[in-house]
Amino acid sequence: MVLDGKKTSNEIKEEIKITVASMKSRGQRPPHLAAVLVGNDGASLTYVGSKVRSCEYVGFDSTLIRLESNITEDDLLQHIRGLNEDDNLDGYIVQLPLPKHINEEKILLAIDPKKDVDGFHPANFGRMTLELKAFIPATPFGIMQLLERYNVPTKGKHCVVVGRSHIVGRPISILMSQKGISGNATVTLAHSHTKNLEDLTRTADIIIMALGMPEFLKANMIKEGAVIIDVGITRVQDNNNAKGYIIKGDVSYEEVSKKASFITPVPGGVGPMTIAMLLKNTLLAREWN
Ligand code: GUN
Repeated sequence: MVLDGKKTSNEIKEEIKITVASMKSRGQRPPHLAAVLVGNDGASLTYVGSKVRSCEYVGFDSTLIRLESNITEDDLLQHIRGLNEDDNLDGYIVQLPLPKHINEEKILLAIDPKKDVDGFHPANFGRMTLELKAFIPATPFGIMQLLERYNVPTKGKHCVVVGRSHIVGRPISILMSQKGISGNATVTLAHSHTKNLEDLTRTADIIIMALGMPEFLKANMIKEGAVIIDVGITRVQDNNNAKGYIIKGDVSYEEVSKKASFITPVPGGVGPMTIAMLLKNTLLAREWN
């Protein structure tokens, strides 16, 4: 069965839209999300554009702050302080990656954890890990929602996460092991130093691929009936396509989908869920602050 992220994200957006309409009808200000984009990276422009459009769709206020790629770290920090102090703003994100001359860690630390709807600040990451109220990073949050809404069994299952990034692999490995509806799994976190990865993936009931290597996972690496979550979104050159590229996931979908019980497609799987959960976090920010 296909885990349809496009359909599920639309359902979540409709739920948010109804909540926002009811806020407005009671005379309350709608949630307001801002996105900071430094420079002109093509993929980042696409993602941020999509985030802003989704805000408009559900009735949020949104602000896009575009800054030159040669902005100094101090000037960017100045913008961050302004956003922290803006009482009309519930949450904001700083789109990553940042230009090389800017220290990403320093910027993320400057974001007020109460407005950190990406959940990248150590305060949120720590709170999430301790199962306290926190903003959960949108991609892992979206995966958990997808598993929950499709009633995919996770309790007592062996989940192999491939990739240990701070944005996806590490947090999803924590969430899958926690108590909760789509948690309670036994988790193995695999990475570039893992030996005999196929031996692990072949024993896995659930495989979460967050590697960024197109079509890496093949059918002979999984067991019959495994649940496959594909977080990969790599642009691969394709001159037959008008854009000059196509998006490929970390999974060889054609062959793997024949053996899987549940699988997310790329595009239309985890990607749209990420945006829906960013909206969800912004709504939570409005409610919590
Ligand atoms: N770059 C890639 N994914 C993300 C994300 O979820 N949030 C931000 N801010 N930057 C990203």
